Amino acid sequence: MRDTFGRQIDYLRLSITDRCNLRCRYCMPDAGVPDLSHHDILSYEEMLRVARVAVDMGVRKIRVTGGEPLVRKGVIDFIARLSALPGRPEITLTTNGLLLADYACDLKAAGLSRVNVSLDTLRPERFLAITRREGLEPVLAGLEAAQRHGLTPLKINMVPIAGVNADEVADFARLTLKHPWDVRFIEFMPVAGDLDYGEKQRFAADRILGALAEQGKLEPISDSRPGSVARLYRYDGGLGRIGVISAVSRHFCGECNRLRVTADGRVRPCLFSVEELDLRTVLRSSDDDIHLKAVLASAVAAKPEKHLIGESDFKQGPRHMHGIGG
Ligand code: GTP
Ligand code: 5AD
Ligand code: SF4
Repeated sequence: MRDTFGRQIDYLRLSITDRCNLRCRYCMPDAGVPDLSHHDILSYEEMLRVARVAVDMGVRKIRVTGGEPLVRKGVIDFIARLSALPGRPEITLTTNGLLLADYACDLKAAGLSRVNVSLDTLRPERFLAITRREGLEPVLAGLEAAQRHGLTPLKINMVPIAGVNADEVADFARLTLKHPWDVRFIEFMPVAGDLDYGEKQRFAADRILGALAEQGKLEPISDSRPGSVARLYRYDGGLGRIGVISAVSRHFCGECNRLRVTADGRVRPCLFSVEELDLRTVLRSSDDDIHLKAVLASAVAAKPEKHLIGESDFKQGPRHMHGIGG
């Protein structure tokens, strides 16, 4: 699939639930999420149909996201069925890591290729402050388990927030000295309003790079994979890599290769889309895949050239990150 700007779209991010076992302050309101009824959420059967059609249209990689995808019952079997689809797409997962130690072995056996783990602090008391829940120990155990079971290359996503956890950038970067992990720092993005952390606390890429440079000399690594969102570096002798995802200050929209489908069956042409396309009604009103294909093709055609953060016509949509899946 090619969009109107010549970009090849071959990456589908599939959010299988908007629920989560954490309440990260930059992602979810304290009260959690209003319960979507069973009927509102796509069944695994429906998601498999979307995935099969998307692969048929040229999707090569499917990332399962949430909320927290591992809290939805039946996720292992779903991943096994996704990875067995004709065309054998690569199946990956983004998780907060809380249940990863329990699931890593089964995820690997189901055909998952690798995981990205969201982790914003290495300090237990801060973990509670940021996520409003306990859980650092299980996440660290989850990282080790994912590595042990070969869900690799393992990536850690850290969102540094000024005045909250940005002073841990160097601590995170040092993990790459001992582990073969990609540690990636993501600029805070203003996806939707009314959360505890806001744009004023964004710790931009230049500040991230400053903090990293204090720790040692960074060697840039070129990553020629299309659609790669991170600029990559390595410390001398490091086993892992360091990535900076400057989604705002130096966006990578020109390389965008993705579509997003939400758990309630909407297609989002862009992470920041305000308008979504209704896939669920089409899924439920006809068994003919031609209609599904038409909606996916319209979503590709509706992809904007770039996001407008920082410009006067930037509009925030109603969905917080837990309903989009990153
Ligand atoms: P890889 O397959 O390992 O490259 O994964 P990924 O980086 O595509 O996925 P992940 O879920 O780990 O996302 C990392 C961060 O990049 C998240 O904060 C996403 O919100 C952000 N991100 C992913 N896609 C986009 C995008 O299209 N636009 C913007 N602005 N940010 C994105
Ligand atoms: N800005 C940047 N990254 C975010 N994430 C969640 N909310 C935001 C935000 N507002 C990250 C999570 C996860 C990834 C999918 O998106 O930490 O790693
Ligand atoms: Fe859950 Fe991820 Fe949102 Fe945190 S960022 S509340 S882990 S979905």
